Amino acid sequence: MTDQRPVLWITRQLSANTVARAVRDYDTVLEPQDIPASAERIIEMSNVVDAILPCHSEIFSSDVVNRLGSRLKIIANHSVGVDHCDLDALAKRGIVVTNTPDVLSDATAEIAILLMLGAARRAIEGDAIVRQQQWDSWSPSFMVGHQVTGKRLGIVGMGRVGQVVAKRAAGFDMQVHYHNRKRLNPELEGRAVFHENLDSLLENSDVLSLHCPATPQTSKLMNHRTLSMLPKNAILVNCARGALVDEDALITALDSGQLAAAGLDCFEVEPGGNPNFSAHQNIFMLPHIGSATFETRDAMGFRALDNLDAFFKGEKPKDKLV
Ligand code: DGY
Repeated sequence: MTDQRPVLWITRQLSANTVARAVRDYDTVLEPQDIPASAERIIEMSNVVDAILPCHSEIFSSDVVNRLGSRLKIIANHSVGVDHCDLDALAKRGIVVTNTPDVLSDATAEIAILLMLGAARRAIEGDAIVRQQQWDSWSPSFMVGHQVTGKRLGIVGMGRVGQVVAKRAAGFDMQVHYHNRKRLNPELEGRAVFHENLDSLLENSDVLSLHCPATPQTSKLMNHRTLSMLPKNAILVNCARGALVDEDALITALDSGQLAAAGLDCFEVEPGGNPNFSAHQNIFMLPHIGSATFETRDAMGFRALDNLDAFFKGEKPKDKLV
């Protein structure tokens, strides 16, 4: 690192360990309030800092990117997903962008499994009945759900998170099927069954879990047509991005009985989610907390700082996207 310390702006409240390391190594600007930075604030700060460490809550649209100041050199995201960044526009501006892959795979896979089980075994209804003191009887027909053991788990996007989900699902003797841009090498693929096209995967998925990035190509990947291709009573799990699912189509599929349940950690509108989901007891919902563990928050912060350190040493950051 040079004698002159780079100026770094951290947009959100990160883990204490991350902040301590940032403050040790950079002239760090912290925000007093933990709220998403507006476009105007991002543009204003880009004139006075060398680096920004944002979360997926800060939106670098082409309009924002075109108005960024010339001092900003790098955006070191505290996220693996970068759909909040217009990478083409940032590349044109010569601004380096990094993300934080790998370190959140375990935490996110845990949430995928939680969503799958919670949706399949009616966790929301069960919790509510006990919590609201309405549990006044028991019978063999009470709260019967869907067993996942031995069922087929379809994974869309067999990247790092998808691969960990597949491993965890093996603990439930699930047969893993997957669709990915590229087939995995035999060592990584193990006993998972590759499907060259999505439709073939859908037909073979009792539970379908989404783990692909949100791009223009994957927008509303799960829609009326694709949801209808799942076997009846299938379960949809999404802890990737809300943009992957047409939420009106999902409600139709749940109401018609085509889908038994859904487990969602991501929504088209965040924060907030979809108010039309609230009445559906068979939608198990969490507020985008896939990577929210103490361990992973430190690891994400450190990974973003590793990328910044490399950049300011004149090296190529490990997770450089553009
Ligand atoms: C990610 O890393 O993309 C998670 O969604 C949290 O931002």
